[in-house]
Amino acid sequence: MRFSTQFAATTLLASAAHAAWKEGCKSAKWDSQEDFWLNKYEPNESLPFVPTYNGTYVTIRNRQRRYVVLHCSDERPPTSAVGEEALFVKVPIESVEVHDGFTQDLIDMLGMSSAIKRTGAYADVTNSCIRGNMLANRTFDESKWDQTEPANVTFYGNVAASDPKKVLIYSNGGQAPLVQLAYIKFLGMFWGMEETANEIYSKVSANYRCAAARIEDLVIKNEFPKGAWISAIQSNGKELTVFQNDWWNVLAADAGSNLVNVSSEAKAPEDAWSAPGAYIMDANKESVLSKESFAIIDTSYYDQVKEKNVVINFENNSPRVDVKNYAQRSGMGISAFAIKEKNVYLSDKATNRNLRHNFFDRGLARPDLALLDLISVLKPGFNSGYTTAFLRSIEKPDEMDPQRSMDSQCVKKGEEVSSLKLNECKLPEWATGYHAAGVSADAYGRNGKNVKSLALDGKSSGLTGGQKAGISVGSIVGGLLVISAAVFGVMVCKRKRSTQKTKEMEEGKLDSPSPSIKV
Ligand SMILES: *[C@@H]1O[C@H](CO)[C@@H](O)[C@H](O)[C@H]1NC(C)=O
Ligand SMILES: *[C@@H]1O[C@H](CO)[C@@H](O)[C@H](O)[C@H]1NC(C)=O
Ligand SMILES: *[C@@H]1O[C@H](CO)[C@@H](O)[C@H](O)[C@H]1NC(C)=O
Ligand SMILES: *[C@@H]1O[C@H](CO)[C@@H](O)[C@H](O)[C@H]1NC(C)=O
Ligand SMILES: *[C@@H]1O[C@H](CO)[C@@H](O)[C@H](O)[C@H]1NC(C)=O
Repeated sequence: MRFSTQFAATTLLASAAHAAWKEGCKSAKWDSQEDFWLNKYEPNESLPFVPTYNGTYVTIRNRQRRYVVLHCSDERPPTSAVGEEALFVKVPIESVEVHDGFTQDLIDMLGMSSAIKRTGAYADVTNSCIRGNMLANRTFDESKWDQTEPANVTFYGNVAASDPKKVLIYSNGGQAPLVQLAYIKFLGMFWGMEETANEIYSKVSANYRCAAARIEDLVIKNEFPKGAWISAIQSNGKELTVFQNDWWNVLAADAGSNLVNVSSEAKAPEDAWSAPGAYIMDANKESVLSKESFAIIDTSYYDQVKEKNVVINFENNSPRVDVKNYAQRSGMGISAFAIKEKNVYLSDKATNRNLRHNFFDRGLARPDLALLDLISVLKPGFNSGYTTAFLRSIEKPDEMDPQRSMDSQCVKKGEEVSSLKLNECKLPEWATGYHAAGVSADAYGRNGKNVKSLALDGKSSGLTGGQKAGISVGSIVGGLLVISAAVFGVMVCKRKRSTQKTKEMEEGKLDSPSPSIKV
């Protein structure tokens, strides 16, 4: 989605007046011929919402049956103009009730966390700032709603529970990472913050696309492991939900990988509409998943406690899922390649005090970090000094980034962009544009579907961390050695893969690269 050309022309005007609307809207008639919207988004069908501007109001189609109608005039348009079921919201709003963590994070990113007056259950909130606001009695969870007025608008994320009085924010994985992120533009509209939202979107997506371009650069140079296919799952101890949705497909492709396709051996859930691209399968069964997954990303909430006042001692670590208990707790047993190789990563690195992790909240709001995390699994040493935001190895149960209750962590007005804490990312020289990274599952036209999974090549017994790293050391030099050693706890040595060898590997003639030196 681009701003219309009008945006550029009105940027200064908008920021000088610190308003997104032309003066006089409040008292205008709903059908005033005057155009009061200074900043407009061009409708773009490939994005999650479609706005149509009309004088004093904008109708927004948001994958619900009816329009969300934002009006800057006190007088709202009649339903005869916008539909019987329209949800009217006078903008700018002052207060919001937010049930889903993804929207909570986006609103915090916009510097508007103080507008969040109500949330759902405390145990589910993973944002430190918002939990801090709860502690300070500025935000109230559902058990304390009586202590605050109803908010101007309510956002929720449960696709299955349709509610015409609330605004639905889809976050079920059905959209590609940079399409999903565009919801920040939608949310910005409620405060007339199109400009800020647009800037955040541009920065995060540039960071994402730069990483994707650098991966493509390594692929071109033959320095990226081919066939390091992954599976993203959630376990309930008996069954696995395997994600094959657009969000994961695009993320995996941009990380230089592919999802293992389980669709022939698994079934779609009954509620396939709320979970598009999800598959359900027996956990403890030989399957294409157990055989072909080079790495498993497990997003289960293994340890969440719902009680509100539970005090978890982060420092002493309550038992976390680790190498010893993973096979049993996931229900998968030890037969899966990725489990034998300890190539399992949990998305519970950043968790709140109720031990709920923030991956499906902040991961969707920061797809650039989700991508960098995945890359760090597939290509250790890619970003020297990078610390993952969400993922940790089953070998590192003590790796934890506690989300406490601290309103000092709220994004402050004017610091929305610096709070993203972006490091500079240098685009490869050939990369003049970003192609469709983040939006399309094959942005660079390298459809890897004919490449065999490394898991099938690997000798499944006795592979060590050194070998895991060994597949990816093509470009590791100097200081990066230390990083990869830190990641895997072993030393690997630099090896250059000859073109011939790579070719033979592609053709399946060779085993996965032989072990490097272990220390
Ligand atoms: C719509 O968005 C897509 C994805 O960001 C982009 O490729 C396309 O050019 C946009 N179309 C218009 C008409 O802006
Ligand atoms: C704007 O609203 C008027 C009615 O007030 C209608 O005639 C017109 O078609 C609308 N324009 C758009 C672009 O929807
Ligand atoms: C918040 O309200 C509770 C009572 O509901 C009170 O015990 C607590 O001291 C208040 N906290 C602050 C920071 O005012
Ligand atoms: C929005 O909510 C505030 C309280 O948070 C309230 O004072 C105000 O009247 C509400 N505005 C509308 C238009 O409902
Ligand atoms: C997975 O395989 C099925 C056929 O078995 C195919 O229809 C589907 O498109 C594949 N999914 C992906 C993401 O490649």
